[in-house]
Amino acid sequence: MAIPISHRAKAIKPSPTLTVSAIATQMKADGIDVINFGVGEPDFNTPEAIKKRAIAAIEENFTRYTKTSGINELREEIAAKLKRDNNLNCAIEDILVSPGAKASIMFVLMTICDPRDEILIPSPYWVSYSSQVEMVDAHPIFIPTSSRTNFKITAKQLEEIVTSLSNPKALILNSPNNPTGCVYHKKELEEIAAVCLKHDILVISDEIYEKLIYDGEQHISIASISPEVRENTIVINGVSKAYAMTGWRLGYAAGPSNIMQRAARIQSHATSCVNSITQKAAIVALKECEKDVEKMRQTFQKRRDFLIEELNKIPRVFCNKPKGAFYAMPSVSYYLMNFQKKNNNPLTGRSLSVRLSEFLIKNYHVAVVPGSAFGVDDYVRFSYANSMENIREGLKRFAAGLEASLKEKL
Ligand SMILES: Cc1ncc(COP(=O)(O)O)c(C=O)c1O
Repeated sequence: MAIPISHRAKAIKPSPTLTVSAIATQMKADGIDVINFGVGEPDFNTPEAIKKRAIAAIEENFTRYTKTSGINELREEIAAKLKRDNNLNCAIEDILVSPGAKASIMFVLMTICDPRDEILIPSPYWVSYSSQVEMVDAHPIFIPTSSRTNFKITAKQLEEIVTSLSNPKALILNSPNNPTGCVYHKKELEEIAAVCLKHDILVISDEIYEKLIYDGEQHISIASISPEVRENTIVINGVSKAYAMTGWRLGYAAGPSNIMQRAARIQSHATSCVNSITQKAAIVALKECEKDVEKMRQTFQKRRDFLIEELNKIPRVFCNKPKGAFYAMPSVSYYLMNFQKKNNNPLTGRSLSVRLSEFLIKNYHVAVVPGSAFGVDDYVRFSYANSMENIREGLKRFAAGLEASLKEKL
């Protein structure tokens, strides 16, 4: 009997990052020293106060299901955070706490999308956005950007694309951005928000990297532009990146009541609530851990400065200075072009950036994420959630690998 696989499951492509990370994992297991620039999580430990609160929650037997949307005490803290950091007034009824920001986005998309709706996504983009959009039978519409505009879309571009579509439903905006590190400024957000309001397009604003921002840049939530924009925006955030809590699984969404109430209903049938212990711990993160965040941010900034300077010293590698998050996206197009010229074999379906990344991991034991994972093949992504020592050594290997790739037939 043929195994019945749904059209939805068939549509989800394997992540192009998987081959490289599978090779890296296997090499590590074989005792090979691999420098991994592929990781998407802070390399720091969760701050002590957060861990202590979790242990206390277990000892207090705070271990049962909670309200689907999250305990009131936590949602009150999130509301206070949204007011303090983002100048947003949000009732706790309009906040949904989910098992990670990834789940928050998924439940929001399930709430707002009908089949064939179009969801606008600036490219390069975080890979899960497009897969999640496909999982709700909607269509991702990518808006291309380039290093010339610091990988940011413009309102004009958005207007042009929107007017060419039949069912534009929402824009997913991610600032600070994974993978480019770009940060949108207030004026840019005002212009983008105006286009969205004019065409009735919701904004899903993923602000998960809000606290990791450099060079005096300021994070502005697009929802804070005006009360009308606030009513048109679902803000997504969480504790994973800022508080080094990726494994604890807690994110949240805040937005218009009618959307949030329905998203909570969907979550109630999909996952019930977030782990009760994590909820207690997250209150401490939001309330008491700004000093810990600041320490991590400063360390990230030092690593970023070193990484970008050194990347730009490698012949024909160009890298914009990212203003936020913990990623850098150097262009390696020269090396890819050169390889393409030499290679007479027809392309095998694996993109050039995937093949270059495979060459680097196999021969130089350095793992980077191929740009094609984010919709742009000319680049690779580095995560600087890595020690200075690793960054220094990894850069040496990367430079040597690129140089060697010019002579190799990959
Ligand atoms: C842009 C972006 N949004 C959301 C997430 C998901 O975070 P969480 O761990 O809260 O699910 C990630 C994680 O990599 C991310 O890069």
